Amino acid sequence: MSRKVTKAIFPVAGLGTRFLPATKSIPKEIMTLVDRPLIQYAIDEARAAGIKEFIFVTSRGKGALEDYFDHAHELESSLRKAGKKDLLQLLNETNMESGAIAYIRQHKALGLGHAVWCARRLLANEPFAVILTDDVIMGEPPCLQQMIEAYGETGGSMVATMEVSPAKTSSYGVLDIAEDMGAIVKAKGMVEKPKPGTEPSNLAVIGRYILAPTVMQNLNKLKQGSGGEIQLTDAIADEITEGRDVFGLRFRGQRFDCGSKAGFLQATVAFGLARDELKDELAEFLTDIMSMRKAAE
Ligand code: UTP
Repeated sequence: MSRKVTKAIFPVAGLGTRFLPATKSIPKEIMTLVDRPLIQYAIDEARAAGIKEFIFVTSRGKGALEDYFDHAHELESSLRKAGKKDLLQLLNETNMESGAIAYIRQHKALGLGHAVWCARRLLANEPFAVILTDDVIMGEPPCLQQMIEAYGETGGSMVATMEVSPAKTSSYGVLDIAEDMGAIVKAKGMVEKPKPGTEPSNLAVIGRYILAPTVMQNLNKLKQGSGGEIQLTDAIADEITEGRDVFGLRFRGQRFDCGSKAGFLQATVAFGLARDELKDELAEFLTDIMSMRKAAE
């Protein structure tokens, strides 16, 4: 089996309840950080890592997401007529090659593991990436690229990890560490949302994965796990039980949980401050608003 990873699955079939009422009509993945939808950040990261085929697991109400990747012919022609080359270039960067995107439906939100399993027929016996668009990561090189490089050395399966405070481990999948090699750790177990006090470490798994094809076979069991959902974590943990390697990578970069309101707002500020044309005005505003807040206390 080749270690080349060319396909990525983007599970986007969740209900996005934490962003209601907005998500009543807008897919969460279309919500924008500055001027780019969350999905664009995920696609850019995947492309930088050498991904060529993009598999979206969608659900009802995600039409805007599919439209986003279509060429906007009318818009492009009026920009061309107006000589707006820079805007045309910007749009071009979002266009996808015909046939590079596949959409598959998850008919019911039965969990992340189930969403990934829905893409099984689009994969051969090959390793694949999974990207959760909620997790937006500022990193250079981008997180998935760091993982592909590390995976080139380790093989097996690899998850992105970061240290979280013990109080927060119960919101994540958490690694049980067999061997800590610095940036890379070898796992001897993986638990989804451990009860407080039972977490095997404080190394949490976040939304980037490179998975061996056997993980897809493990998902065939469609075993219900934490919260009654079919968990991807369980299918990865089964790899370890069956004697195959699972590694965690402490990636370099900052991760924002854009599935939560606080994380989304923090990402908006961070990405705004990273833009030359916005940073001064935004920084001034933040300084002013913080001093007004202090004065009012
Ligand atoms: P979340 O746990 O954040 O769920 O899913 P959600 O529905 O998107 O959001 P909330 O919690 O209701 O606000 C993590 C990722 O897994 C996908 C989601 O789309 C998201 O990218 N997912 C989750 C599925 O595709 N299908 C599922 O059945 C569950």
